[in-house]
Amino acid sequence: MSDTPLLTTPEAFREAYDRSVRDPEGFWAELASTFRWHKPWSRVLSWNFDRPEIRWFEGARLNITENCLDRHLETRGDQTAILWEPNDPSDPTRRYTYRALHTEVCRAANALKELGVRKGDRVCFYMPMVPELAIGVLACARIGAVHSVVFAGFSANALADRIQDAQCRLVICSDTNQRGAKAIPVKEVVDEALASGCPSVEHVLILRHTGDPVSMTAGRDLWWHDLVDRQEGDCPAEIMDAEDMLFILYTSGSTGKPKGVVHTCGGYMVYVWYTFLQVFQYRQGDLYFCTADIGWITGHSYIVYGPLLAGASVVMFEGVPTFPTPARFWDIIDKHGVHQFYTAPTAIRALMALGDEWVEGHDLSSLKVLGSVGEPINEEAWHWYHRHVGREKVPIVDTWWQTETGGILISPIPGATPMKPGYATFPLPGIQPCLVDNEGRLLEGPVAEGMLCFRFPWPGILRTTYGDHERCRTTYFSQFPGLYFSGDGARRDADGQYRIIGRVDDVINVSGHRIGTAEVENAINLHPEVVESAVVGYPHDIKGQGIYAYVITRHPVPDTAAFRKEVLAVVTKEIGPIAKPDRIQIVSGLPKTRSGKIMRRILRKIAAADFSGMGDTSTLLNPEIVEEIRAGAMKV
Ligand code: WT7
Repeated sequence: MSDTPLLTTPEAFREAYDRSVRDPEGFWAELASTFRWHKPWSRVLSWNFDRPEIRWFEGARLNITENCLDRHLETRGDQTAILWEPNDPSDPTRRYTYRALHTEVCRAANALKELGVRKGDRVCFYMPMVPELAIGVLACARIGAVHSVVFAGFSANALADRIQDAQCRLVICSDTNQRGAKAIPVKEVVDEALASGCPSVEHVLILRHTGDPVSMTAGRDLWWHDLVDRQEGDCPAEIMDAEDMLFILYTSGSTGKPKGVVHTCGGYMVYVWYTFLQVFQYRQGDLYFCTADIGWITGHSYIVYGPLLAGASVVMFEGVPTFPTPARFWDIIDKHGVHQFYTAPTAIRALMALGDEWVEGHDLSSLKVLGSVGEPINEEAWHWYHRHVGREKVPIVDTWWQTETGGILISPIPGATPMKPGYATFPLPGIQPCLVDNEGRLLEGPVAEGMLCFRFPWPGILRTTYGDHERCRTTYFSQFPGLYFSGDGARRDADGQYRIIGRVDDVINVSGHRIGTAEVENAINLHPEVVESAVVGYPHDIKGQGIYAYVITRHPVPDTAAFRKEVLAVVTKEIGPIAKPDRIQIVSGLPKTRSGKIMRRILRKIAAADFSGMGDTSTLLNPEIVEEIRAGAMKV
């Protein structure tokens, strides 16, 4: 793979970008040709954004794990593929070479086969950040099964919904988990999810991780070590069509339940590999560390697939940034000599608030690139990251992308394009963004502000939403015909650099986690005392956005503290602790238009403690309510 040159100069970038627009098929075909394919494509790209129907490398056949693992055995079999750093720093680090990882993936793949899992079957993962999660995911890809990883912070109900939607045959989990100082009863949550009725699940495969006792259901539950350890360390790869499904990953939108974003084998492979190499300027011998969880797309694309496709050495971290101390990230960077470090603004802000002393005294001189992802990075956090972690010489890549985009779309490339605090800057080669106004009119000229859309497909774009193609069309491709709509607003400066403003839909970004307001409202409404609720985001110093809930109750609430606690419990049970409202205000009504629509604009302003002009409230059905809510908000 060393035959793909890194873009290290502005000229090289310009040339690559221009070619990618002039001749996208030639551009991507050339990159794709460095991989191991069993059959070449008959057509590089066919697409139609209206249906939508997008096919990359049509007719080609491959297995992504051969490109992640087998291909590296001769050249770097003994190189570290995954270096695992446990939650407790006094526990031993684990290291998997490419050869060892290949063997473990094959064992796990053979185990899946023994359980009857076949090509196209869905397998759900509900696991902490342990190497077996990466191994299990790759084992699925090895045999053509589709993985659906559910972040282990979601509740039993949320897990059950996702298992049901994808009709998973198998669930893979651990016994329990230790995150920081907190113990999480992982298997118990799985049991609870399955008890609520997930008839598609035949087996649960459990990794003994902490050694805590768990209850086992005879005939259904099996131990990973009983099944996997006795398998052969070799497993032929299932040869897949480039457009066969690789994985499903659930994500929240503005309406209804989370949807299963579907990515396919060939295009995703080429895209995450290329973007990993360019954005992080990864060179052989470097050690790369991404702090994301594999339960999110960042972990899929930039812990598992991207780095392994590039033959990189990647640090996988089980714990949290503040355990045992807020120096944990910097300890890991110094301990192993990390070259590229990729984290989220929320972590940077939280660490920044705990004081510079935790980062000072660390060497950190191995660092070459710092990355940020998941939410806008405010300038204060950017400068702190740059000064205290990057020592004012390490470039920062503010990478903008989404679960649906598969990989990074807008980001600086160190050395090749400039960086600018608060800006994701320029689109990567192959990416054609545009801004449109509310009516879908294209905003010309460099300087503009509008909805961020894309007019041409890239290999990593989502293909559908699982089991509901129409939902994919209406969510992303119908608002502005002929364009992919991201749901984000953005500004473009005179140089053509993009600054992401944030979601323009009813999605809240809490600590880089995407939460649909409708989901939280549906959960709150399950409380028997709740008549109606409205949930909005508001600026939050650490989390980026906090969750603000306005709630109408059936009767006057005698003990508001107790009531708030109950509401939090309901949300935790339905979705998980990440969706818990930070503020709950009991109101007697919600501002509504004559057609019955909640005026969220007003609620957002009040939640942000912005009590200046509420705009025109004369069209409201109940304009008097605004004053009541405003007065009440001061007391929340
Ligand atoms: C949403 C996607 C991308 C992987 C993690 C999140 C926001 C993401 C940035 C950034 C400003 C960002 C957007 C986007 N977002 N990266 N660098 N600057 N905003 O994936 O859960 O699918 O969320 O995260 O609002 O739409 P996701």
